[in-house]
Amino acid sequence: MFSEMLRDGQSRPPEERPRPERSRTDCPILLSQRLVLRAPHEDDVDALAHLANNANIATMVARMPHPYTIADAADFVRRTKAGAIGKCVYAITKADTGAFLGCCGIEPHEDGKTVELGYWLGEPHWNKGYATEAAQSLTDMVFRTRDVEQIDARCRVMNIASRRVIQKCGFQFQATGMVQSLAVGGMVPVEWFRLDRRTWVSLKSWGNLG
Ligand SMILES: CC(C)(COP(=O)(O)OP(=O)(O)OC[C@H]1O[C@@H](n2cnc3c(N)ncnc32)[C@H](O)[C@@H]1OP(=O)(O)O)[C@@H](O)C(=O)NCCC(=O)NCCS
Repeated sequence: MFSEMLRDGQSRPPEERPRPERSRTDCPILLSQRLVLRAPHEDDVDALAHLANNANIATMVARMPHPYTIADAADFVRRTKAGAIGKCVYAITKADTGAFLGCCGIEPHEDGKTVELGYWLGEPHWNKGYATEAAQSLTDMVFRTRDVEQIDARCRVMNIASRRVIQKCGFQFQATGMVQSLAVGGMVPVEWFRLDRRTWVSLKSWGNLG
């Protein structure tokens, strides 16, 4: 049966061949000028708990508990390893020292053609361009390796830094809306942005994303 499928697939043009289910192995390690994005592991737990236990971070993202404990960090690492969070989650680390700086990731939407981008950095590491560098690496990886048409990003209306990161990555404003925030304990107003593949191709060929 396998060989029949293989033959069948090979007789069709590439765009019509059956695609196997994506798995965690579709989240390659990403290298950029100053960063390595890799899967979170147990050695990150202390730094993760230390940096994530910050209301300035928790209240800007949707699902981070606050306060954030060692147990929360260990559980997060365990669930990302098990694929239980159901998305590509990366530890953002310094390429030269290996230091853990924060996390980023993508989560597929049910429509099969959109992924959602998310990120946070430990507060001591803000305003050094790391989130933009990480988000641009992730964006490039998504459009180069995945069959998606667009990447969405949402930030709280009050989140000036994240809006700037999103804009520096070439996303376009779509609409405002409301999203549940675990740490806030209710709905918060957000802005929704989108980068589609055609725009990304144009921006890359223009060499003008930064
Ligand atoms: C949002 C966040 C990831 C940004 O990380 P970062 O590494 O500091 O981002 P960068 O340095 O790449 O870019 C930040 C930009 O915002 C700008 N910025 C930051 N605070 C600002 C302010 N108060 N007013 C105006 N601009 C501001 C910076 O100047 C920079 O823009 P520039 O390069 O044009 O100068 C970080 O602040 C964070 O983790 N916040 C809490 C969690 C969060 O908001 N996650 C995103 C959820 S949508």
